[in-house]
Amino acid sequence: MKKVKAGLFTATVLGLAMTLTTAYAAEYKASIKEGPLKIVNLNDLESQVKANMDKGAFGYIRGGAEDEKNMRDNTASFDRKYIMPRVMQGIELKDINITTSFLGIPLDTPVIQAPMAAQGLAHRDGEIATAKGMAKAGSIFTLSTYGNKTIEEVAAVSDGHPFFFQLYMSKNDAFNEFTLKRAKESGAKAIILTVDSPVGGWREDDLRNNFQFPLGFANLELFAKQNNDGAKTGKGAGISEIYAQAKQAFTPSDIQYVKKMSGLPVIVKGIQSPEDADRVIEAGADAIWVSNHGGRQLDSGPASFDVLPAIAKTVNKRVPVVFDSGVRRGSHVFKALASGADIVAVGRPVLYGLNLGGAQGVNSVIQQLNKELRINMMLGGAKDINAVKQTRLYTDSDLQ
Ligand code: FNR
Repeated sequence: MKKVKAGLFTATVLGLAMTLTTAYAAEYKASIKEGPLKIVNLNDLESQVKANMDKGAFGYIRGGAEDEKNMRDNTASFDRKYIMPRVMQGIELKDINITTSFLGIPLDTPVIQAPMAAQGLAHRDGEIATAKGMAKAGSIFTLSTYGNKTIEEVAAVSDGHPFFFQLYMSKNDAFNEFTLKRAKESGAKAIILTVDSPVGGWREDDLRNNFQFPLGFANLELFAKQNNDGAKTGKGAGISEIYAQAKQAFTPSDIQYVKKMSGLPVIVKGIQSPEDADRVIEAGADAIWVSNHGGRQLDSGPASFDVLPAIAKTVNKRVPVVFDSGVRRGSHVFKALASGADIVAVGRPVLYGLNLGGAQGVNSVIQQLNKELRINMMLGGAKDINAVKQTRLYTDSDLQ
């Protein structure tokens, strides 16, 4: 395998972003809050975070692409389906069972955390705190390639709890192989191969705020260091520079490459059409992840929830289906499961919980979804996750 010099990769991908991490970490005022959160609903968290967070960081986390129509529609689309109230089911709330499993991993909840970059923006402990919070919730933590912590640091605090590694492939195979090998050796249970971001969506808050990542991307830095080129100095690179060296011309053959390099199951993330679901399964994907990146990519695309039923039909249980984008309520989790998802991931609210309460804040966010889910299951007559999956949802036209 041809080795590409780390410096070339670092400098090209991240411009001058990668160094002085410690100095900038000290300079950048991330939250140090710790403690459980009193949550009425997850929507409330956004304004609480906005009041305290650096403007650029908040814009990067909250924002979507272009007019943010897709981002809004992701959540609004759940309102277009109804859960029929069911009565006299002989169920007690304490008997509602939300445990499940995914890729053979037993879970206390059907809610996992979506991979998100640069969690040091939200909290000083970044991904370490999120991993601890997700472990406490009995669920799965997923580490982004662009995390502020290394795979090894996350593995160390996961304490046997399952975590996945999300790969943004580079055009530099040396980086891909180095990173996948570390993920496998550190105990990651699967690789999430994100394929919906060959370029970044047009995110206007980042442009208005002239947002620069203030902290280093730990896994890229490690690669640079181990390839003996040292990190370059300077502050953050623009988002467009980060994407510059990322692989753009994905093909289904990348799935086999990642499987071979990692020896782990590969979940292909960013599927929105039945045709693509079929192609990636045919190419060997072990699971698919239905997502439009939380409305951060193609603003003209449909709501992720709207495309889920047709994709699930095409998948026809050949592989498990993960769903994300717009999930803010237990009812949304219920509806996604009833529409063909096997597991549901949540993005931004986890970072808001992280910002407001560290590891415990992350756990509080998952517990809030769990609480709402249990109530919806009780009132919708579904005693466990299998029953939720078999529940029929209704549309306006069904009710005519
Ligand atoms: C993301 N997302 C993401 N996805 C991915 O595969 N790798 C990544 O590094 C990131 N980074 C990232 C950063 C931030 C701040 C956000 C908000 C999102 C997308 C993420 O995994 C998920 O698809 C969406 O966040 C789901 O939508 P909601 O729940 O935020 O609406």
